[in-house]
Amino acid sequence: MNNGIQGFEYQEGVLHAGPIPVSAIAEAIGTPTYIYSADGIRSSYRRLERAFSPLGAHPHYAVKATSNLHICRLLRELGASMDVVSGGEMERAWLAGTPMEDIAFAGVGKTVDEVRAALDGRFSPLVGHAERFGRIEIESRGPVGMFNVESVSELVRLQEIAEDLGVAAKACIRVNPNVDPHTHEYTTTGKDKNKFGIDADLVPGVFEDFAGHPMVDLIGLHVHIGSPVRRVTPFVEAVQVLLELIEMLDQAGHSISLLDLGGGWAVDYVAGESPGIEAYAEALVPLLEEPVRRGLKVILEPGRSITANAGILLTRVQHVKQGRTRRFVICDAGMHTMIRPALYQAFHFIWPTVVPVEMVPREFSERPELPGLHECEIVGPICETADFLARNRPLPDVSQEDLLAVFSAGSYGMSMASNYNDHGRPAEVLVDGDRAIVINERQPLAALFETERVTRELELGVG
Ligand code: LLP
Repeated sequence: MNNGIQGFEYQEGVLHAGPIPVSAIAEAIGTPTYIYSADGIRSSYRRLERAFSPLGAHPHYAVKATSNLHICRLLRELGASMDVVSGGEMERAWLAGTPMEDIAFAGVGKTVDEVRAALDGRFSPLVGHAERFGRIEIESRGPVGMFNVESVSELVRLQEIAEDLGVAAKACIRVNPNVDPHTHEYTTTGKDKNKFGIDADLVPGVFEDFAGHPMVDLIGLHVHIGSPVRRVTPFVEAVQVLLELIEMLDQAGHSISLLDLGGGWAVDYVAGESPGIEAYAEALVPLLEEPVRRGLKVILEPGRSITANAGILLTRVQHVKQGRTRRFVICDAGMHTMIRPALYQAFHFIWPTVVPVEMVPREFSERPELPGLHECEIVGPICETADFLARNRPLPDVSQEDLLAVFSAGSYGMSMASNYNDHGRPAEVLVDGDRAIVINERQPLAALFETERVTRELELGVG
């Protein structure tokens, strides 16, 4: 197969994860199930690291892409730091063995409780629970390496809490460069109409007003313009805005030592859709080489480019229904398992896991050139018309109980799964060499009802 998939391959018409037929995993643990390839993750991580090595740019894995503790651990073993956007993700990153100083805490709506826990482990909601995960030093773990701050209001809150706790913090200002990433409007984050970051022209004023605070050191700038960004130029435009700002700030006496370039690099959902990580790096390295030589440190926050193509979602066909105008392939995965098609009209290549050899697709395309395909609506069990994995999709003959693989599902699949219509969340399996390791059991239905007991009545002192 000629595509960006990492670690999955058809052998004699049978889809394998490494040496293991994925159908064996489905037999053992059921469906829907996410399967990740450890080798796939390792190789895309190293490829990204290599591409940006002329800048010495250190990857902070964007935990939101696939947040499973074991995936975080795997990336940690490769040397990744972690980019988190909530208190929950911060605890995951830490439980996965990341020292707090290797965690960057971003996100537009950090709460007081989250900031306190990020500064001082005594305020972590995991106090009393962390031992179960092999970490005992929670109360003395120290502050996160840095905060990426998205508003003046947030910066003021951070300063107040840092002062109150007597804990010093480092922060970058997230800049909104007003650059169009030419991606779905829901994942566009660097335009001035988006809620993210501080408008570039307002940033010098923020440094004027807030730099030099005794407890919060403004060390750098952060930018993330959207995801996936399939063109190179928006990144170049954003970096140009940031470099101008750094220059301007420098002249005003604010030296910037760190530039966080965010993430957003595209992958091949369809063959050839992404320019490839090297192409992004080739465009950005020349812009940043000189500032790096002069001491600027560059960090990256890749998510999708590490895990997307190293994961698939396995689903079993429950029913095939030929309607008057459409053929519906009804699966046990749907918008509750993988919401990207419903939410962004995102394309994922989907194919049976066992096909005659001549029906193995040579590359992932929207219209594979193979004989005997039928247009199908590949849908889930959820009671919504938005519940589809693919529309008008040519598929070979499929029948009840067949397994389908939803490819490129390793990012923003499981991490966006929900319990809608009261389905437990899927299982996750990591294939490493010849081992298939369950890294997350299918969520038992009983767990859904766990917190839904009448436990107490609130004493509100009213009425
Ligand atoms: N840094 C920041 C501040 C971000 O907001 C994100 C993604 C990343 C890094 C990582 O971006 P990546 O390298 O994975 O593209 N749910 C959507 C994607 C939302 C991305 C959110 N932020 C999807 O399924 O396509």
